Amino acid sequence: MNYTKGTGELKNWIVSENEFNSNNLGKCEAIMCLGNGYMGVRSATEEVYLNETRDHFVSGTFNKFDENEVTELPNIPDFTKLNITLDGERLDLEKGELKNYSRDLNLKTGVITREFNWTFKGKEYHFISRRFVSLKELNLMAMEVEITPLNMDSAVVISSGIDGQVTNSGAQHFHEGEKRIYNKKFIEMISTTTTMKIDFVQMTTHALKKDGVEVEIAPDLNMDRRKVSVEYKVDLKKGEKLTFEKLCTVNTTRDLAHAGKELKNIRTFSLNQLENLSKIGFQTLLNESAKEWDKKWQEIDIKISSKEEFDQLAIRFAQYHLIVMTPSHDSRMGVGAKGLSGEGYKGHSFWDTELFIMPFFTYTMPEVAKSLAKYRFETLGGARKKAEDNGYSGAMFPWESAWKDDGEVTPVWGAVDIVTGKATKIWSGFIEQHITCDVAYALWQYYMVTKDEEFMENYGFEILFDTAIFWASRLEWNEEKKEYHINNVIGPDEYKEHVNNNAFTNYMANWNLNLAIEYYEKLKNEKPELFNRLNEKLNLDLNLNIWMDKVTKIYLPQPREIDGVIPQDDTYLSKEIIDLTKYKNQDHVGSMFKDYSLDQVNEIQVSKQADIMVLFYLLENRFSTDIKRANWNYYEPKTLHDSSLSLSTHCVLASDMNDKEMAYDLFRRASEIDLGPNMKTSDHGVHAASLGGIWQCIVNGFAGVRMLGGDLRIDPKLPENWNEVKFPLNWHGVNLTVEVTKNTLIVIRNSKNRTEVKFTVFGKEYVLDKKIEIKY
Ligand code: BGC
Repeated sequence: MNYTKGTGELKNWIVSENEFNSNNLGKCEAIMCLGNGYMGVRSATEEVYLNETRDHFVSGTFNKFDENEVTELPNIPDFTKLNITLDGERLDLEKGELKNYSRDLNLKTGVITREFNWTFKGKEYHFISRRFVSLKELNLMAMEVEITPLNMDSAVVISSGIDGQVTNSGAQHFHEGEKRIYNKKFIEMISTTTTMKIDFVQMTTHALKKDGVEVEIAPDLNMDRRKVSVEYKVDLKKGEKLTFEKLCTVNTTRDLAHAGKELKNIRTFSLNQLENLSKIGFQTLLNESAKEWDKKWQEIDIKISSKEEFDQLAIRFAQYHLIVMTPSHDSRMGVGAKGLSGEGYKGHSFWDTELFIMPFFTYTMPEVAKSLAKYRFETLGGARKKAEDNGYSGAMFPWESAWKDDGEVTPVWGAVDIVTGKATKIWSGFIEQHITCDVAYALWQYYMVTKDEEFMENYGFEILFDTAIFWASRLEWNEEKKEYHINNVIGPDEYKEHVNNNAFTNYMANWNLNLAIEYYEKLKNEKPELFNRLNEKLNLDLNLNIWMDKVTKIYLPQPREIDGVIPQDDTYLSKEIIDLTKYKNQDHVGSMFKDYSLDQVNEIQVSKQADIMVLFYLLENRFSTDIKRANWNYYEPKTLHDSSLSLSTHCVLASDMNDKEMAYDLFRRASEIDLGPNMKTSDHGVHAASLGGIWQCIVNGFAGVRMLGGDLRIDPKLPENWNEVKFPLNWHGVNLTVEVTKNTLIVIRNSKNRTEVKFTVFGKEYVLDKKIEIKY
């Protein structure tokens, strides 16, 4: 990979692959994934290879393959594959000679360009392809291929269409529907998901040019099982360039735009849409999409002046993917743990959204954060059902969430247990319960940062109360200790299952209950109408008594006298300590499972990821720096960072503790999860939470931005090799620019509104007029 290819205007905007290796296809398929939140397309090459994964997902279209599986995002029929034959030889870069190969993702415009010279049996061709998913026309993906025979005349044959033979690793989610080619030009495939019965209308059309001049060539028409295509035969003179354009659209019955419409109307819509798009043409459509990207970047761009140029590219890469993966157009949909870039985690949403991805949106694109928060409101039915099925009250959010009505969708069986040879049981769906307070926390953070009363009144307060009702019902009375415990859970550290009193879970449940009590009082006094409505629905009066009684009796693990270490759970500190050097130095995550089963790992003082550290991050003011440091010193050496969520939290914490070198190192490691030299890490998709975490490393870590108890704090701790960072920040509806240098903090008000903006910097309070410059 090459991250320094961009120069001039494009400096630090280009992610480039400079060598083709068919063993490493997954890397660029995922990190160069294209999308617009409506859909995501993995960037498989035009020509086919054995190890490719050709995925195309449409947000929210979950389907259940069969009764024994959970719902997942179906991999829809493919547009991207082209069968290209050059003078009778199939284009195949594993054969012949390849020169000047490059594939570039331009993060600024969302366009991929692939270019090379290919010589086979003495015949040399120049090849360039471009591809984008439009940020303007959400239903549109477009691609273009240019082929020039360099040293002879050549007969080029391109077969292209819609291929429904793709699956999700073997699971076929579609009934084969109607296929049709209108006027030898517009190709249509209808497919319907097997259980959820969502109809997909996919259409494509082609345009061909020779040396830039449009040519009409009648193609051969083909239909096959789950396949429809056309084949163009073009004779090219030596040096003559063929341009092959392909516009592709997807519409589904799940789209809000098609709600209540009959399939035949959607087909008509789709045909008209494609006809209109084809009149506009590839290049103009590309320019329009690039313009949308430009607008986005003006809203979100972070400028870093660092000795390491890569840092600038890393944050742009992260933000690019956060935009691509997030269905901001439809609040019935969440963000998948791999975005829309791979089959990993089946498109499901986890706590990754609330604690890792949402903060970027909350602080920079609050409308999008609102949509994600609303998604959880939409899933309340499933959350209530989960609580009820488990004998609790209130809302118990699913550990893994898919379509809003699906409820819990965590698969039950996972990787092989090396001791028993059977599949390991995944307990998260049953007992990883902290997701419920994570949702409440993210909502509250959204509220405090945006002051969006409308959202809270219609959706947010109901969730805050109902999650508190859940926790109150979840607590278990310990008669001997005369306190409430939360037994048999998995905390954030998934290497410890069936533990009692995971500190993170207990503290956050306590926080959730306190918050509900606070808002009970506030709403009763300040918004009586709303209070009455919610009181009627959730019986707040009765619940308040329960909350008040229980909240003070929840056991909150305290730091040990001797060393300040807070027990992660009741048994962690008494488990066996082993030498973890080998696993700390691993090349690939999860290497410990080559030697131990999960049951064995459960009995060792080893952690998968940040656990107590997340608690320090969220409830920062409850713990002193000394306590944080003591726990860092104890737990970090035992943490393998086997989850990509771990590094960014540790980075922010290291920054808080003023350990700048460590913080920077962790930021770099987080940035390299997808962009690093390891060519396999992204095979199943990019790491969405970690990408959100990279934004947090910079804004919450190095710039020290935090919402604490509703107030804004900015305590910058710039890494040694950074001179400056400048970023947008939204606070209470005011658009700010924050600039941090080694010893100066500048905050500028961009919005015209006069809403008061107050913040503290290292304990001192400031009120912003238009611009303020603070030496620190
Ligand atoms: C992590 C979880 C995370 C999930 C999805 C797991 O490996 O342990 O914390 O939510 O991946 O990213």
